[in-house]
Amino acid sequence: MSWQIRQAVLSDFKWLVRVDSLAENDHGRRRQIARAISKSECWVACDADDLAAPVGYGCLDKSFFGEWFVPLVVVSNAHRRCGIGRKIVAHLEHCSSAKKIFTSTNMSNTPMRELLSQLGYQSSGVVENLDPGDPELIFMKILEE
Ligand SMILES: CC(C)(COP(=O)(O)OP(=O)(O)OC[C@H]1O[C@@H](n2cnc3c(N)ncnc32)[C@H](O)[C@@H]1OP(=O)(O)O)[C@@H](O)C(=O)NCCC(=O)NCCS
Repeated sequence: MSWQIRQAVLSDFKWLVRVDSLAENDHGRRRQIARAISKSECWVACDADDLAAPVGYGCLDKSFFGEWFVPLVVVSNAHRRCGIGRKIVAHLEHCSSAKKIFTSTNMSNTPMRELLSQLGYQSSGVVENLDPGDPELIFMKILEE
């Protein structure tokens, strides 16, 4: 399959809530997705043959001390391990037009940590006490100019 990344539009919301199992029961997460779409801070991954049905999404903003930051990357369970997450993050890097970009994930999140390591992210600190017993790891990547 060929995956394409495009900016999210309002009609994608219902798909992203399905893609992201957490969003089903979490109002806060749904609000976060809706806000990111409305602020043009959300991108979706679709099969090139079905551009109306996203299978993953990623967000990009400047919420981290004014730096470019990827707060969310989610791929549907059914489409994981096909390179979509990597493609979304690489696209967000490109969209940021920044010299450096940050993201974070829980220590327990091996898939995301491996993905970031593969894309050349380096460790940039730890925040304790967000999720009990599961520190938030900050990562940073220097981007080509
Ligand atoms: C993290 C996540 C976005 C990865 O998406 P994905 O499309 O499955 O990732 P990719 O297929 O692009 O994988 C890229 C690399 O990440 C690593 N990786 C991905 N899933 C992995 C897993 N389950 N175990 C170990 N490494 C994994 C591998 O190094 C992989 O490269 P490889 O397949 O060539 O070995 C996905 O697992 C997800 O949506 N998780 C739930 C939401 C989440 O935790 N998001 C991150 C924090 S916001």
